Amino acid sequence: MDFLDLPPLNGAHGTVKLPGSKSISNRVLLLSALAQGTTLVKDLLDSDDTQVMLAALTQLGVQWTRQGDTQDYSIEGVAGAFPVKQATLFLGNAGTAFRSLTAALALSDGDYTLSGVARMHERPIGDLVDALRQMGAQIDYLGTPGYPPLHIRPAQPHAVGEISVRGDVSSQFLTGLLLSAPLTGRALTVRVAGELISKPYIEITLNLMRRYGVLVERTDWSSFNLAAGQVYRSPAEIYVEGDASSASYFLAAGAIGGGPVRVEGVGSASIQGDIRFAEALQLMGAQVEMGDNWVSVSSSVRLHGIDADFNHIPDAAMTIAVAALFAEGSTTLRNIGSWRVKETDRIHAMATELRKVGATVEEGADSLRVTPPAQLQAATIDTYDDHRMAMCFSLVALGGVGIRINDPQCVNKTFPGYFDVFAQITQAVPVIAIDGPSASGKGTVAGRVAEALGFHYLDSGALYRLTALAAARHSVALEDEAALAALALNLNVAFAADKICLESEDVSDALRTEAVGNAASIIAALPAVRAALLARQHAFRQAPGLVTDGRDMGSVVFPDAVTKVFLTASAEARAERRYKQLKEKGFSANLENLLDELRERDARDAARSVAPLQQGADASLLDTTHLSIDQAVNAVLGEYKAKQIA
Ligand code: DC
Repeated sequence: MDFLDLPPLNGAHGTVKLPGSKSISNRVLLLSALAQGTTLVKDLLDSDDTQVMLAALTQLGVQWTRQGDTQDYSIEGVAGAFPVKQATLFLGNAGTAFRSLTAALALSDGDYTLSGVARMHERPIGDLVDALRQMGAQIDYLGTPGYPPLHIRPAQPHAVGEISVRGDVSSQFLTGLLLSAPLTGRALTVRVAGELISKPYIEITLNLMRRYGVLVERTDWSSFNLAAGQVYRSPAEIYVEGDASSASYFLAAGAIGGGPVRVEGVGSASIQGDIRFAEALQLMGAQVEMGDNWVSVSSSVRLHGIDADFNHIPDAAMTIAVAALFAEGSTTLRNIGSWRVKETDRIHAMATELRKVGATVEEGADSLRVTPPAQLQAATIDTYDDHRMAMCFSLVALGGVGIRINDPQCVNKTFPGYFDVFAQITQAVPVIAIDGPSASGKGTVAGRVAEALGFHYLDSGALYRLTALAAARHSVALEDEAALAALALNLNVAFAADKICLESEDVSDALRTEAVGNAASIIAALPAVRAALLARQHAFRQAPGLVTDGRDMGSVVFPDAVTKVFLTASAEARAERRYKQLKEKGFSANLENLLDELRERDARDAARSVAPLQQGADASLLDTTHLSIDQAVNAVLGEYKAKQIA
């Protein structure tokens, strides 16, 4: 799938059971593999990054089995030594897998090559390699020095009491070192040079090492001591918490879209730093409640901008950058320099995409300042092969604008199925689509239904008629598809309550003539014209809802419409209605001619190859031949309300 269109959303509420944490999953997989004994890992995350780790472990000779189709995995530990001594590992764009395996393999006695996707080869690893070399690791760069791919030869371990590693580029370097340090059996002190970023991720590492029987003493955040002779022992069974970073999108949805939105799988007992994302939402004015294993967010007032340091929650902070679009005033995210070396340069990517929806963004070396626009704009969002860009920007649709997410499958890195879950807790701006042939009365019925519900109304036929009228006025031939499409794209129209203006002139009556209707029917068969009018039609979908009539409202333009009606009447009844209408407006008309023209137009609208006039399988038939307008309106309202209750 190249893109995914998210409809404008009215609000969010519901409950989400979170998928397993990526950070915990990949650490637990490696620890279970390195431990003595078998570990049953429960609720492992099912995603690209964990698949990468599992595949790498298989290549290294680690035996594991999945329990049926659950997310529970049984891992046979290899007690510190991978059985396979020579392997070529491809690790995609999984930073956690790449860094921790580099450290573990560099301290083993095998010959390994590690590579990833192009972006992985742009993500620095030199600081980790330097630290491992201090311990006797033999590592060569196969491409650019300081970056993957790497070639690892058997280590020549020598007694070294202390090593140092930089902490200000990626905390994964320190995590990798700490995870692999017990493999040497020696005592070790790791000193951190520079300020350690993303400290909560180190907490996860230390916490999990402890669960596997290895204690690390830390002094502040600058020095970590490991006593000699510690080995990893399986805890027999371990649960993976829900992913706190993934929780951020739903919690933010609760703060932006009213809520309450409740996530289950993380809470106050979580070992993940990103749980503190909830505090940031609270600072912005949202209401947060938390139990051991759940968090719930709601908001009854508009959020307000904040100025804060996000070094401790770099991943979840991306969600704040998007939530900032819904806040009063500007929001400044500070100390987020690590964004530059993640799946993409996230500072630049975030700034670029936020601007597309109308925000004013100041991009600093390690900061971002976001000022929301008065009105968010519909936009097509590029995702840079970065799962978090895709997930963050889904939230923009809560501003009541349609958002197209390019390459949405990038969410598989950590959250396959994200968009389905997001759809379950959000309410799309409802559309009632009434399709049917000419003069069936669908326009009158649709207008009345819109009025009854306080919804917006779109007469899509008017757009085709307007294009036909504009063509006549600019002498564009009805066969000139490209020129007609250009006209349709650039129509200068204004829809007011009681009139439609083309280039500032009231054309309400001119549009209704049979000549314009016939010309509209001819150009409506041209695919380029239909495509050109699509975005214009989507723009009518605004809170609290839309009622629209046409030929393909339910089938093509708004396929997710909540209520789809195919409204028709016999050709004779329709000809008679049109005849009366024309007479009332003082036009001359001939019933026989009208009937012939209607039949001809029906045939053309039904026979065309694009969006032909027909009752969709999911549309209900409403034959109004013997119904009054009131009866038809009530039938549609009844159908819509029945859906609301269901
Ligand atoms: O509903 P109407 O008569 O105003 O529509 C004018 C023409 O535009 C009709 O002949 C077919 C075309 N049309 C269409 O193809 N698709 C729509 N959604 C609406 C109208």
